[in-house]
Amino acid sequence: MVRKLVIDCDPGIDDAVALCMGLFDPRIEVLAITAVGGNVPASVASRNVQTIVAHLDPPRYPRLGAGSPPDDAPPSDARHIHGEDGLGNSGFSSSQLQNQHPSDKVICDAVRSAPESVTILCLGPLTNVARAFQRDPGLPALVDRLIMMGGSVDGVGNITPAAEFNMHYDPVSARAVFQSATTKTLVPLDVTRQVAFSLGLIEELPSELSRAGVFLRRVLPHYFRAAHQSLAQETISLHDAVALVAAVNPEMFEADYMAGDVESSGDLTRGATVFDQRPNREWRMNMEVVHTIDVEAVANTIVRNLQYAGQCTC
Ligand code: BDR
Ligand code: CA
Repeated sequence: MVRKLVIDCDPGIDDAVALCMGLFDPRIEVLAITAVGGNVPASVASRNVQTIVAHLDPPRYPRLGAGSPPDDAPPSDARHIHGEDGLGNSGFSSSQLQNQHPSDKVICDAVRSAPESVTILCLGPLTNVARAFQRDPGLPALVDRLIMMGGSVDGVGNITPAAEFNMHYDPVSARAVFQSATTKTLVPLDVTRQVAFSLGLIEELPSELSRAGVFLRRVLPHYFRAAHQSLAQETISLHDAVALVAAVNPEMFEADYMAGDVESSGDLTRGATVFDQRPNREWRMNMEVVHTIDVEAVANTIVRNLQYAGQCTC
């Protein structure tokens, strides 16, 4: 069965990798790609979504949605990791922004076009989904599943000691989405950071004879350099690509129901995810949370999907 997907993202290099995979995967029909502010400001994320789709030129063009900033964005984003343009300063992000509908409207339209059949894959802050649920209060019940990359169960963050980036960027929206009556799966940092790629990944990418190869080979080296310089790491984590695999290969992931919430403010804890794991738990379980993944199978799937994107864009 082909899964209908809306991909909500803030490209961002790992978002861009996930888009490369998703746009050519025959098991997915990408109805829409909606931009959200996060790694880069919303206007840059919107331009990047358009640039990526135009460059890859997939067989079926999804609808695109334009993001706008959340009410309470933190002063910093992740351009120190993803580059000033969000795509590794690769020179790709040059296309003029076409007239796009707001992302939250595009999400509402996509879900309403196929009630109970659309998965929303959230690869960035949850601003757009919270807005879509506000715009159309009947929407949460019509979403097949919301798959969110974000949060951390062990309490170790990446943007602050306590918070994962997507949750920290717009915790108020994350909290609203966590509390919404939608079927949800969280793919937290605890598992996405287990899938680490060394520089050898570059050799496995499709060749520059393909559009996907040209794109990935220009964008990914920056991510390795940034991981080395900013994080003192020799490997990279493609968090959003792992979340995409969770959408198409759920058999590679094990999850348990948990009761989760997000701290919406706090000098030290803004965006920290909190789970009620007390033996006498009082909170209601509200989402599936992935705790175990088949690291090797997921890594191989990411590489294979990228190679396939190369074959499709020769
Ligand atoms: C998440 O934050 C962003 O920087 C990445 O694109 C990913 O979605 C990982 O914490
Ligand atoms: Ca992202």
